Amino acid sequence: MTGELSPIDTAKFVAAKRAVEFVEDGMKVGLGTGSTAAWMVRCLGEMIHDSGMKIIGVPTSSRTADLARKCGVKVVSLDEAKWLDVTIDGADEVDPDLNLIKGGGGALLQEKIVATASDRMIVITDASKQVERLGAFPLPVEVVPFGWQTTKALVEETLAGMDVLGQESTVRLNGEAPYVTDEGNYIIDLHLNRIGNPRQVALVLNQIPGVVENGLFIDICDVVVIGHGSGRVEVNDINSGTHEEDRIDFVDGGNMFSDLSD
Ligand code: A5P
Repeated sequence: MTGELSPIDTAKFVAAKRAVEFVEDGMKVGLGTGSTAAWMVRCLGEMIHDSGMKIIGVPTSSRTADLARKCGVKVVSLDEAKWLDVTIDGADEVDPDLNLIKGGGGALLQEKIVATASDRMIVITDASKQVERLGAFPLPVEVVPFGWQTTKALVEETLAGMDVLGQESTVRLNGEAPYVTDEGNYIIDLHLNRIGNPRQVALVLNQIPGVVENGLFIDICDVVVIGHGSGRVEVNDINSGTHEEDRIDFVDGGNMFSDLSD
């Protein structure tokens, strides 16, 4: 029944559906944010409903927390869970070493804390997010509101000495005002076009006073699950070096998928 979904939603759904197969009874699971992660939360809810598995979810945003509760996934805070078995999340870009740009949805800080506190991070994505080099997608940097314009200027100045193709930055807006994250911070999007040394950029950005965190996820992701509009799904594991292929059909057995808005 993949025909009932658009190719892009089919790609996101099959990646999500395949990824929740990594979740076992009793696991503590980090729940990502974004449209692909929303599919995963719905698939997880369906799996819990059908199998009776006991799963605890730690959401990476208030949006995901709301959706998880709606889908019947038990939600606790990271401090309650302490350490997680696996985190499943989307990404804005994935390079061949499984380094990522995340934060297009504004949740990069909680996403990075949760993914880092997990034995394993699984990224779910459609093929459009795979890139040879990171940087075409604007790199989100979360900054404290105090003195944010000075922080922004300092970030741009710092970029001048780095292996990037652009150094323009823009504050993310919500209407006319800066977008405010779940942690009460602002986001500066860096238009770098190409990041020659993501590890260096990630480390240097976090040294700037006022910067809370950046959206480069280096050496955090273990597995990427890539969905395709045809229902084909690929699983690449960076640790074992394995590549598997599968096919998944969309079958909506209940009302879990009726509300597809993130
Ligand atoms: C949220 O802050 C982001 O990191 C998302 O995980 C990322 O932007 C992917 O979102 P989509 O699945 O909606 O493309």
